Amino acid sequence: MMMGERSLCWVVTLFGVLSAAVYSYKCDLYEGSWVYDDSYPMYDSTKCPHIRKEYDCIKYGRPDLTYLKFRWQPTHCILPRFDAEEFLRKMSGKKIMYVGDSVSLNQWQSMVCLLHAALPSEANIHEETINSTTTVTYEDYGVSISMFLSHYLVDITQEKIGRVLKLDSITDGDVWKENDVLIFNTWLWWYRRGEKQPWDYVETGTKILKDMDRMVAFREALTTWANWINSDVDTVKTRLFFQGVSPSHYNGADWNEPGVTNCGKEALPISGSTYNGGWPKAEMVVEQVLSGVKKPVSLLNITRLSQLRKDGHPSSYNAFRGMDCTHWCVAGVPDTWNQLLSAALG
Ligand SMILES: *[C@@H]1O[C@H](CO)[C@@H](O)[C@H](O)[C@H]1NC(C)=O
Ligand SMILES: *[C@@H]1O[C@H](CO)[C@@H](O)[C@H](O)[C@H]1NC(C)=O
Repeated sequence: MMMGERSLCWVVTLFGVLSAAVYSYKCDLYEGSWVYDDSYPMYDSTKCPHIRKEYDCIKYGRPDLTYLKFRWQPTHCILPRFDAEEFLRKMSGKKIMYVGDSVSLNQWQSMVCLLHAALPSEANIHEETINSTTTVTYEDYGVSISMFLSHYLVDITQEKIGRVLKLDSITDGDVWKENDVLIFNTWLWWYRRGEKQPWDYVETGTKILKDMDRMVAFREALTTWANWINSDVDTVKTRLFFQGVSPSHYNGADWNEPGVTNCGKEALPISGSTYNGGWPKAEMVVEQVLSGVKKPVSLLNITRLSQLRKDGHPSSYNAFRGMDCTHWCVAGVPDTWNQLLSAALG
């Protein structure tokens, strides 16, 4: 009787060990929680030149600094610490480009700061802006990292009737596809109206409309992007990533504080892995469109881990003193996005 129980126990333990081994082999880097780690942040943001004034929280007086001290811990595996030297070595000779809105710019700035902090001051680094692209080149490694600002990925053109958002056209793609790594993102601008809407008409197929359902328009633009990938991008040369939807924090009910209407008092992440706010509809659209692309595109699935970071936004600590619970402080959450990007690049 005793022996029987004991061997059953061994079998159960062995099964547990084996399944844990299989699990860690197939580990999901995007499923996990935030843990306090005194060795963070990975750099001192006050020493990083040119952080955009929207993201430079410490410079604009953020008093609580605990938000810098969290590390993303996947449940079943270890996310390697970002190693700037190793990153530049493995990317040697390559061109990396972030393409998208100010959330892409957020991630690009974090990357430039992560690299700046780790390199000696005599390193050969050049920065230049041409048209809508800013490029930082690390001459010693032959690596360039660019930011191409494109709010919708698809075109906006000036016509006789006014500015037209063309859901079926991507002309900037010819510039993008010259890169070895592309990280795309678009979402923030799709619901903008009034003065903040940078177009007057929207073109879908042969129709030109004053407006249309914005989620339908978003899906159509992403589908245009997917078709462009299928027809134009050589994925042997170019690795593709799409950044998942970056969440905002304006609704306290999403984190058990009903009545709260912004992130202004948030100083800690949500503990654990679950978030009340649900999965953004736009993210579902992104995942559906990506699943239809015939070529390999990796989802940088940062949505859930960022949902847990109600404390990571600038709130009022930016040059404008406006409440911003959409973008992210640098240093901060986008450093983890880049750590995940580096891990995905192998
Ligand atoms: C992204 O991450 C979430 C949360 O971990 C998960 O539910 C979802 O299935 C993931 N999406 C993809 C396409 O892997
Ligand atoms: C910048 O934009 C102009 C006008 O669209 C174009 O003619 C020029 O070739 C671009 N420059 C570069 C370096 O891409």
